[in-house]
Amino acid sequence: MIKWLQEKYNADVISVTVNVGQPEDLKEIEAKAKKLGVLKHYSIDAKEEFAKDYVFPAIKANALYEGKYPISTSLSRPLIAKKMVEIAEKEGATGAAHGCTGKGNDQVRFDVTLGALAPDLKIIAPVREWNMTREEEIEYAKAKGIPVSTAAKKYSIDQSIWGRSIECGVLEDASKEPPEDAFEWTVSPEKAPDTPEYVTIHFESGVPVALNGKTLDPLTLIETLNKTAGKHGVGRIDHIEDRLVGIKSREIYECPAATVILEAHKDLEKMVLTRHEVLFKQQIDAQWTFLAYAGLWVEPLKEDLEAFINKTQEKVNGEVRVKLYKGGLQVVGRSSPMSLYDKNLVNYNIKTGFNPAYSKGFIELWGLQTRMANILKRKAGKQKGAKGGE
Ligand code: ARG
Repeated sequence: MIKWLQEKYNADVISVTVNVGQPEDLKEIEAKAKKLGVLKHYSIDAKEEFAKDYVFPAIKANALYEGKYPISTSLSRPLIAKKMVEIAEKEGATGAAHGCTGKGNDQVRFDVTLGALAPDLKIIAPVREWNMTREEEIEYAKAKGIPVSTAAKKYSIDQSIWGRSIECGVLEDASKEPPEDAFEWTVSPEKAPDTPEYVTIHFESGVPVALNGKTLDPLTLIETLNKTAGKHGVGRIDHIEDRLVGIKSREIYECPAATVILEAHKDLEKMVLTRHEVLFKQQIDAQWTFLAYAGLWVEPLKEDLEAFINKTQEKVNGEVRVKLYKGGLQVVGRSSPMSLYDKNLVNYNIKTGFNPAYSKGFIELWGLQTRMANILKRKAGKQKGAKGGE
């Protein structure tokens, strides 16, 4: 892209790499960029900011797109775009380029965020624009003296601390089980330890603050849990996902920490929120998650929803104990100073303020409309029967 931008747009290029937890060697990337003649290169470590300002809000919103995907890739895009804008402003750049294709969600996330934060920047998406096949891309690179690894990459991989996404190659056959070599963060359940491991997660105001009694900063907590849960094969996700552009795609993810934290968080919410809050919040959460997935991180509605979400999270304090075993996880215990659960209330042998005699009257009124509707239905059925008989 750098060469192409220099040639096609006669541009002076400043390159930016934002680290959100991907394994690539940033020094190597910088060296390659410099060799291609960039004016300047920026390597930005944004892992902590990503954990605190992007992943934590997603935890509060129980963010699972289409019920399965913890939006690990989606969350990183608006942060990368924000960093690009900061540098563009500092350097007086007139345009911003990204490497997304024209088929995915990431182009939407970059274009919308860049366009909203810096309306005057000209957005260029070379890969979307140049329309080269893979072979043509390799030819182009060769012609320009750009080294391309000969070992054709098996998969398209994207990583952040919140998860690893794996696409393409044999995975495109949605009917086939993904081969073991697609996974790096998780062992297969078959190879997981024979003894279960328990993790206790402590939440304060809806976000995890400690693991097994040890207070950890957001980044360390997530990284630690990725290792622990991954070791037990927890966090593998295989699903059919609806992309914004309409394409259905088969997606494989490894999200060990996300899977555990989201399950624990949801469980704790059920203990401390009223049923009305729980049910209403599910709709708010789904809407928040959709906006984040759909490239609308900077949409005002997201902030509006967060006002509600953050208010509910004031009560989400407590501990959740999770059991990790052979690719599965189960919440096996929870406690909270804000708990609405009262074991005396459910116990049949203990006399409490709950008077079972009141239940009879409650049920009478609860079923009032349902009874009336059914009486009418029966009457109508009888009349129809009578007419049919004439
Ligand atoms: N489908 C996911 C999303 O839209 C992940 C995309 C990851 N990109 C990749 N090149 N593997 O958030």
